[in-house]
Amino acid sequence: MSQLLIRGGRPLRGEVAIQGAKNSVLPILAATLLTAGQVEVRNCPRLRDVDASVRILQSLGCQARWEGASLLVDTAGLNGCAISDTLMREMRSSAIFLGAILARCGQAELSYPGGCELGPRPIDLHLNGLRELGAEIDDSGGLLHCRAARLQGRELVLSLPSVGATENLMLAACGAEGVTTICNAAREPEIGDLQDFLNACGGKVSGAGTSAITIEGGRQLHGCAYTVMPDRIAAATYLCAVASAGGEGFLRGAREQHLSTVTAVLREAGCDVRRSAEGIACACRGRPKAVRPVRTAPYPGFPTDAQAVLMAALLRSRGTTVFEENIFENRYRHVDELTRMGADIRVAGRVAVVTGTETLHGTNLRCTDLRGGAALCVAALAAEGQTHVSEIGHIDRGYQDIVGDLRDLGADIARIETEE
Ligand code: EPZ
Repeated sequence: MSQLLIRGGRPLRGEVAIQGAKNSVLPILAATLLTAGQVEVRNCPRLRDVDASVRILQSLGCQARWEGASLLVDTAGLNGCAISDTLMREMRSSAIFLGAILARCGQAELSYPGGCELGPRPIDLHLNGLRELGAEIDDSGGLLHCRAARLQGRELVLSLPSVGATENLMLAACGAEGVTTICNAAREPEIGDLQDFLNACGGKVSGAGTSAITIEGGRQLHGCAYTVMPDRIAAATYLCAVASAGGEGFLRGAREQHLSTVTAVLREAGCDVRRSAEGIACACRGRPKAVRPVRTAPYPGFPTDAQAVLMAALLRSRGTTVFEENIFENRYRHVDELTRMGADIRVAGRVAVVTGTETLHGTNLRCTDLRGGAALCVAALAAEGQTHVSEIGHIDRGYQDIVGDLRDLGADIARIETEE
């Protein structure tokens, strides 16, 4: 079994290249189902979730293969519209394939994507929107039987700015007749990447980054070569690693406009954060300062995916910081593990109160989820002694090479194999 061995207590110094964005490439891979011809996905991160998406595409009869850092996808051979329960369970966000399969095939069969470590992950907004576009969806019995002889574009209003629902409906709308407008759409940068990808394939999508996205349906999309945007949450993770351990680091390719709420908090904590066309530089001397309450919110608010890693970076801060997790019900599972290192964190419902302590001590930790696992690594960099982190499959879902990346920043970290 693989584990990470981290020896903390020393400042970082180095430069890391930021991977392609997981939460951008997953909907883009689903969108390849809308295209005729080959798609070259450049800067595609090698992640377990990408592998799962490739298996889904291949199970539908499509071809997908790596060529260096690019994934070449050709969906001409599509011969199915069902995703197996096994594949659906491998990756919770596989629901993102529903809209594209419906648009391409006129029908789709898939099981309800499971919940995940973060709590229930309902897809009612996805299904309601697809029904409003004309799909007939029988969701009794845990299976989704979907039919859409034709999808008709119209105005859709989301009751909350769901990222996945916005993406699913953008893809379905590409296959609808006429124009669709999604109101109260999510504004995350990954939505903009999906819009740019669809337009590079000959689509006509506009408004991404605002709350109203307009999609002109009925256009035949062709293949293209597209470069995935840098992963803003991986960038946030490594900024927090520097804040946690102290020292300085350069994140090549990171775009501060995608994570300005994170850099604002790190500046408040005393870090010197500077952006350039090439990336983001971050320098932190000594212990960070506690910051004003951190409330997670849909973009452009503070990203829920950075909550755990920022918490880890503030465990040795001077003072007390209040966190409020407003997006997911169960996103403090990393707290119990962090307190095993000597952290002082009190959780009450959606609120977590972090009181900085002088020292953290290395110990054996277990990942609970993707970003919680990354947070354990961030905390271990500031801890005295060594830390073993197990169940690192969670981390491999979203980080292409967290060991190599942190080593590039000067961390003493290794992936080791253990008997158990
Ligand atoms: C995306 O998940 C990301 N995943 C998540 O990143 C991210 O945390 C989340 O957006 C919020 O930014 C991918 O892009 C693959 P939502 P998604 O739909 O689309 C509720 C990571 O660590 N909701 O915006 O599932 C839902 O329960 C992952 O990289 C409904 O109630 O997020 C949640 O409370 C974790 N009904 C809230 O909305 C629905 O139909 C936000 O969910 C859909 C969502």
